[in-house]
Amino acid sequence: MNLNGIKKAAGILAVGVVLSGCQGTLSEKTPIHPNLNMDQQPRKEAQEVNNFFADGRSMRQPVEGTVARGLRKADAAYYEGVDENGEWIEEMPVELTRALLYRGKERFEIFCTPCHGITGKGDGMIMNGYGYVPAPTYHQDRLREAPDGEIYSAIYNGVRNMPSYAHQIPVEDRWAIVGYIRALQASHNVSEDEIKEYDVDLSSIQAEYNAAQEKAAELAAAKEAKSAGTPASAERGKELAATYACETCHSTDGTAVIGPTWQNLFGHEVKVTTEDGETMTVTADEDYIKESILNPGAKIVDGFAPSMPNAYSALSESDLQSILEYIKTLSEH
Ligand code: HEC
Ligand code: HEC
Repeated sequence: MNLNGIKKAAGILAVGVVLSGCQGTLSEKTPIHPNLNMDQQPRKEAQEVNNFFADGRSMRQPVEGTVARGLRKADAAYYEGVDENGEWIEEMPVELTRALLYRGKERFEIFCTPCHGITGKGDGMIMNGYGYVPAPTYHQDRLREAPDGEIYSAIYNGVRNMPSYAHQIPVEDRWAIVGYIRALQASHNVSEDEIKEYDVDLSSIQAEYNAAQEKAAELAAAKEAKSAGTPASAERGKELAATYACETCHSTDGTAVIGPTWQNLFGHEVKVTTEDGETMTVTADEDYIKESILNPGAKIVDGFAPSMPNAYSALSESDLQSILEYIKTLSEH
């Protein structure tokens, strides 16, 4: 914009400010209102006293025994994703059409990708370095097996560290997103035999996969090299616990938050259930703690949901050691 353009824009803005400036400001004088509209009409404001009614209120309650059109949300399956017993419904209550899936894709990419990533791997762009709790990947058995109603509930109610998106996303779109997440999961969980039924070049997929693995290994090596110069220490571990948002789920003062407290964890006994469903008591030594961080699904602490994100396996050896040193300082010996 040239100088004249700026002057003109400023002029228009100033006129706008003058014309709109008085609304809402208290004044004894009758406001000048050249454009008469529904602002001028006899009516009661919200919260205003109204002596016409015995209770003196302007704001009326709905007539007893009635529900306003469109507000009868009796269909719990549709609105809340639960059946009559309050259990999550297995299958979504809306018809899964191509149009719904595309709608779901679009909405997913707007609302969910910042954290969950474009393919649902949990690698959204704000997940790196901003101290957020990592969003889990959808491509794990627990979430593949979760009923549709539970996925819906994550959007509707939020889940632990994830806020609800009920205000941003209307009901039909929530189901569209659920459908799309199912499609994403299916697309990442195809057996070799099934792939062969389609006209795809398996070797090029394999090559792409290998390249991605190589790149990840390179990144990990670079991270390792960078932190190799920094000796492991409890202070650094404390910093890392903040950076990686471990503290959102783990306290150091004995209270259980979403995960167990770290107070007196090291060297003490923990009751766990293994991946194979076996229950046992283990001592929280170095190996156990490292395993808990690198592969959280391996042993689940009794009384807690398997909700620790599997997102820390790329921690460098030195960073892992630092966190371990920090956790050790929280135990009395
Ligand atoms: C601001 C980041 C963020 C956004 C945006 C986000 N999520 Fe999440 N999501 C998370 C985090 C963090 C968790 C793990 C919460 C926990 O376990 O404490 C999670 C967990 C989940 C889970 C797993 C729930 C479970 O039972 O473990 C589902 C499903 C999910 N999100 C779906 C969605 C959908 C659908 C959207 C978009 C409508 C979305 N999320 C948007 C951060 C986000
Ligand atoms: C979204 C919540 C969440 C975040 C973030 C999280 N954890 Fe966890 N963590 C859990 C839960 C839940 C458990 C218990 C269930 C289990 O065993 O997986 C757990 C278990 C553990 C255990 C075993 C504790 C015990 O009492 O036996 C260790 C150690 C641990 N986490 C370390 C970490 C570290 C280190 C980080 C950050 C780098 C971290 N966690 C981030 C939720 C979380």
